Amino acid sequence: MFKGRHLLTLLDYTPEEIRALLDLAHQVKREKRERIFPERMKNMNIVLLFEKTSTRTRCAFEVAANDEGAKVTFLSNSQMGKKESLEDTAKVLGRFYDGIEFRGFEQTTVELLAKYAGVPVWNGLTDLYHPTQVLADLMTIEEHVKKPLNQVKFCYVGDARNNMGNSLMIGCAKMGMHFVGIAPKSLFPDPALTAKLQDLCKTTGASITLSDNIDAVDGADVIYTDVWVSMGEEAQFAERINLLQPYRVTMDMLKRTNNPDVVFLHCLPSFHDLETAVGRQIFDEYELTEMEVTDEVFRSRHSVVFDEAENRMHTIKAVMVATTTDTLD
Ligand code: CP
Ligand code: NVA
Repeated sequence: MFKGRHLLTLLDYTPEEIRALLDLAHQVKREKRERIFPERMKNMNIVLLFEKTSTRTRCAFEVAANDEGAKVTFLSNSQMGKKESLEDTAKVLGRFYDGIEFRGFEQTTVELLAKYAGVPVWNGLTDLYHPTQVLADLMTIEEHVKKPLNQVKFCYVGDARNNMGNSLMIGCAKMGMHFVGIAPKSLFPDPALTAKLQDLCKTTGASITLSDNIDAVDGADVIYTDVWVSMGEEAQFAERINLLQPYRVTMDMLKRTNNPDVVFLHCLPSFHDLETAVGRQIFDEYELTEMEVTDEVFRSRHSVVFDEAENRMHTIKAVMVATTTDTLD
């Protein structure tokens, strides 16, 4: 059953349910290519609550909702948590809307919204998890790696304890994939989450390996990285630059996979050149022209980051349709 469900973390979904969401995402992508718009969410309204900045997530929710016939409110300056409790805000929004998206800091915020809203709540990124991103990543792997997911060796390189590290490790464990987290030991994921997922691997056939040695990319089908400093951690640039420079994704790292067809993924936004204000500030202070990935890799034939970005829209559409209608029930 999907109708009425929240999406707070992929931990709450079975492999079969994730499979069904991915299948629906591939279907709605084909429909959009053919300009077929069944408007499954006609006459619905959704609200998008943002505490942090966004390009892809906000636009993906808006376009997906528009395609499905729903109307959207974007809210980044609400009373929530300032003059009104999360509980009261959730109850009010639940009276107005058929679904609520939240992007912000605390996972407990999205959990409280879900507890009190009475309508589906979707996590559009918190400090802990980014589940809609992982659905898009899995969809992109299915499009570009000519193997079933459960045969894919997936290497995540960089800050392995951030929202993407956590969520990708969950997604891989659920889908029977071979997850390798490659990071300095101090940036390994939370041992409690790793242990819980190691248990899950026994039933899904997945595996999880953590290493601080980049030679662990050998045989990778996918190399994935994310920014070294996530939203809200800006004070930690110096420390992270120091720790993570050896983990930058370079052409040499791709060669070390010994897979000429290795695919490069990044959730974006990315610091691969000096075309951003933050990138230039880092250059002035640390003389780095690139951070987590070189411009060469980012623009190479291995990189499918814009397909991945597009797939945010199709996967978010699948999540909204599945949880607000009886399409998958
Ligand atoms: N990948 C991602 O969530 O992008 P935005 O921050 O632009 O939404
Ligand atoms: N880890 C990044 C992901 C951005 C989509 C952040 O939280 O800023």
